[in-house]
Amino acid sequence: MNTFPIHIMQRKPMRPLHNLSDYVVEELPSDLELMRSGTAGQYRDLVQKAENLAQDKGDVIAVSRGGQILQLLDCTILESAIRTHGGVPGPLLSDLTNRCAALGKSIPTLTYEGLVAINPLATDPRTFCTGEIGTAELFFYQSHANIEYILARCVQEMREILANVYGEPARDIDLSITTRIRGNLIPMVQTINRMMKQLFSKLPKYAFDAVRPYFDVNSIRGFHGPSGKFSAGVFAVDALLYGDHPDMNLFLQKKMAELAYFPGTTASGDCFSGQDDMRSSFTLAQKKETLFSMQNKVESVELYDVMRTLFREMHMFRSQHFAIAQRFIPDALMQGAGTGGETDLQRYLKHARDVYERAMNAQDRKILDACLFSPLC
Ligand code: HEM
Repeated sequence: MNTFPIHIMQRKPMRPLHNLSDYVVEELPSDLELMRSGTAGQYRDLVQKAENLAQDKGDVIAVSRGGQILQLLDCTILESAIRTHGGVPGPLLSDLTNRCAALGKSIPTLTYEGLVAINPLATDPRTFCTGEIGTAELFFYQSHANIEYILARCVQEMREILANVYGEPARDIDLSITTRIRGNLIPMVQTINRMMKQLFSKLPKYAFDAVRPYFDVNSIRGFHGPSGKFSAGVFAVDALLYGDHPDMNLFLQKKMAELAYFPGTTASGDCFSGQDDMRSSFTLAQKKETLFSMQNKVESVELYDVMRTLFREMHMFRSQHFAIAQRFIPDALMQGAGTGGETDLQRYLKHARDVYERAMNAQDRKILDACLFSPLC
């Protein structure tokens, strides 16, 4: 039985695939623990069990996209568990996975959307591990979900600011832009940074080591694994903030080429950004309607100043993220591959950080120019 009700006062079961979902939630984590410890259990038993559970599932009927992706999550957790322990998912499970994916218009593999956005973390969570490690795993997903929630609010705030400046008919450009960046946006990014800090200090490395293999590349179906790389919230914030800068634009273009890995939009509503947010924010970046470029229209030293703080906080986010990767996956960072498919992790993560370093420098130049050449100072 599942042994970590620690964070869940009362489970409210959400089991769209009935006995298959029941098994994934209640028994699989303990079975996997036995397999990891070599005490008992064989992947062959798991393959057979999964085939039995996948039988008679003609009624893949969830109507909401959230329900459809939850069905897919249950199937792909099983597939990943089998693969990670050396097996190959059988035809019934594979077929069920394909049908759930088609219904939810998703790729047929374990996704960031499934694990973090759709997984009912507060009421009926899915995890690969049980006990203390399972609790840490849940904390890992919850940290991601909380960060995504704040990112979605940042995106909303940025959109409103940009609409104020570039909207038709043009509205008065007023002081409130500076106030909103200082009073709303910066504190939100600071909260995200505090959460990253917590993740760094509270997530035990041994727990992360136990879970990470389940996120590996899906070598059987040929897909990347789930990764924060597929956060549409981070993408949209980058695009709306600085997406017209050539380095950032190229970085975003590469992510756009992997759009299918990012969350769909309608499954989890406003509290989680998705592919539509990526498309619309990328379009604004292409039109050079970003917070960075907005400053040319709203010449104000006060605005330049708060924008520098905002860039500094985003730089901090990337620096902390790089430090997290160094702590949790030092070997992979030197020579391995990321679950999201990157092969030169050092370079990739440093690049994401350095783009913001350049943003801070560009911002400094703006402040300097304003002070040297304009009567604003
Ligand atoms: C234990 C914690 C974490 C580790 C070890 C980790 C590791 C990694 C690695 C190795 C990559 C490279 C891409 C790939 O997977 O191939 C990556 C990318 C990325 N991760 Fe994380 N990550 C962690 C937590 C987070 C969190 C909480 C977020 C917040 C949403 C996040 C957001 C990102 C983003 C946006 C990228 C793409 C690169 C970028 O835009 O900066 N990660 N991560």
